[in-house]
Amino acid sequence: MTKTEALKKIKSLSKDLEKHNHLYHSLDRPELSDYEYDQLFQELLNLESQFPELKLKNSPTDRVGGAPLDQFEKMDHKNPMLSLQNTYSSEEIIEFEKKIQRQLKTEEPLEFFCSPKYDGVAIELIYENGELISALTRGDGVTGENVFSNVKTIRSVPLQLNSNNPPRRIDIRGEILIFKKDFANINKQQQENGIQSFANPRNAAAGTLRQLDPKVVASRKLKMFCYSLGYSEDLNLESQSAFETYLKELGLPHMPFITKGKLDSKKLSKICIGANEVIEYYKSIESLRHDLPFEIDGIVTKVNSFSSQKALGNIARSPRWAFAAKFKPDQATTTIKEIVIQVGRTGALTPVAVMEPVEVGGVTITNATLHNQDEIDRKDVRIGDTVIIHRAGDVIPEVVSVVTEKRKSTSKKFKIPNHCPTCKEESVQLEGEVVKRCVNTQCPSIMKEALKHFVSRNALNIDKLGSRLVEVFYEEGLVKTFSDLFKLQPEQILALDRQGEKSTQNIIKSINDSKNTELHRFIYALGIRFVGEQTARTLAAHFKSMDKFLLATEEELIDLPDVGPKVATSIISVLSQKSFHKEVESLLKLGLKAKKIAASTTSEGGVLSGKTFVVTGTLPVSRNEAQDLIRSLGGSISSAVSKNTSVLLAGEKAGSKLAKAEKLEVEVWSWDDLQERSK
Ligand code: IVH
Repeated sequence: MTKTEALKKIKSLSKDLEKHNHLYHSLDRPELSDYEYDQLFQELLNLESQFPELKLKNSPTDRVGGAPLDQFEKMDHKNPMLSLQNTYSSEEIIEFEKKIQRQLKTEEPLEFFCSPKYDGVAIELIYENGELISALTRGDGVTGENVFSNVKTIRSVPLQLNSNNPPRRIDIRGEILIFKKDFANINKQQQENGIQSFANPRNAAAGTLRQLDPKVVASRKLKMFCYSLGYSEDLNLESQSAFETYLKELGLPHMPFITKGKLDSKKLSKICIGANEVIEYYKSIESLRHDLPFEIDGIVTKVNSFSSQKALGNIARSPRWAFAAKFKPDQATTTIKEIVIQVGRTGALTPVAVMEPVEVGGVTITNATLHNQDEIDRKDVRIGDTVIIHRAGDVIPEVVSVVTEKRKSTSKKFKIPNHCPTCKEESVQLEGEVVKRCVNTQCPSIMKEALKHFVSRNALNIDKLGSRLVEVFYEEGLVKTFSDLFKLQPEQILALDRQGEKSTQNIIKSINDSKNTELHRFIYALGIRFVGEQTARTLAAHFKSMDKFLLATEEELIDLPDVGPKVATSIISVLSQKSFHKEVESLLKLGLKAKKIAASTTSEGGVLSGKTFVVTGTLPVSRNEAQDLIRSLGGSISSAVSKNTSVLLAGEKAGSKLAKAEKLEVEVWSWDDLQERSK
């Protein structure tokens, strides 16, 4: 491929990928399967590695996170980022309207634009000529930090605005959030990795945004909603509602709004006429609050007309034309009856407080996580204590603090035991980790959790097998390993309590259906530490079959986009276990089939089938063409030379790869050799 052709292709792939990103992440209307998307993405990655000088400034491949930074650059906001005045009652809302009416010299009810108050982190996106050039945190309101490389990883944030005639410059403000379900996953991951969990989604979002490694940011699934205009050049908009419509046009993530009628969870913003409608709005949003996938902590009301906003101006550090009305916090007081230890899939021992049942935000809560020993000590939580609890992210209840005035002399301190409560083996605390772990791979708790993960939705998705049933199967001795699941007989299930013909059939069918799966699900299901869904996808796209994945080398792994040394070591340590290989082989024998993830040109049974090639040096054709030829003859391509490389195809000026191949005694072919063999 010539340079001009490559540039053309890079441009068209980038444009397509961004289009599909928007369709998937903002409009919820995907037109490509994940697999097709991954293929395009891989194609762009390949081209960019072949022609690094042609990579676009805002490439969709940046969304997986670029190189880590040393620090963020400080930058001033064109207009300061202000705060909001708060109101605390219906009367204050009515008073607010009256005050504005006086200032605007009108008695007509005012038109307000109302939105949820997102509980996240404020950000300002700066677009010049339609291109995202910076993203600033609020900072002290005047100067923020440019977290551009992190914000680029947020898939719903367009790198390029959808407009043929974008304003010369537009600064758009909004909130970065982590959705409740993603928050729960992040904390689970933190816990498993032995790192401190986040107290709530807002802290997780703030911590993530200030991460210096954009790859970590990319793995955290940040979301954004835009809500105000910070600054613009050559743009004439009349009102907040016109601005919201404009956001939609530009392809920016925003909350759709309704002009009248009832709210629904997809259209949470609303134009309200007069204070009474605002009060109604507050109530309906509060009642929807817990059903939303993200956290909100109140409502924000703005005077809709921009000319009225201008006339009203600011007082001190907040505008006169807007206010927030916050909800009451979701907290309750109760007592701790006991503290028990839960053993997770990776062996992490998590202390959990068992409490007198109490209602928080409409849900009865009996358990709250205490995270780890450091947390217990820091908050000085003891058995028998009266505590304030909070539902962090509305998902995992958490102990906020102890009401020490109510502490009884009978309260007891708690220490996480030095042995696993399930298998009684000694537990260990690894260096740099805050959790203690059970490291017995045969520990029943760990095995049960591994099975639950294996059948879970994003793994093999055996949906008729819930957690409880997995536990029953395990306890009854029916299923101890992944492969046992595929050996289950209907009679064995029928013999269990509460299992009838129909449910048994459903379970067996659901197990059988899961046999036709995708490679990344298969890899993810195996539960290798640090291999989350994204990493599993990367591995699947690279190795293309379970057999090849089993032969992965550390060097080959480290070369992949989101695999660092920690992940690579973890994979290699699992791959080096004979028992792991045996288990995967049993699964394959029992019919678990991962759909082949292979380049469309790959032909099975070709003359090069089974051989792994690395291509290096200058060849008579482009490297891509050479790789395509190899694939079309059944060979596969890898980027680094290792002992698993079958052949190094070396052109002129082959450097370190050739030296390495010689050292490892890997066969080296010239272009002519390849021509010979492919006849
Ligand atoms: S409008 C003058 N709309 O709340 C500020 N802010 O306490 C105009 N916030 O800094 C901001 N949801 O980070 C606006 N729908 C919303 C919001 C919102 C959350 C945050 C924002 C702001 C803070 C003020």
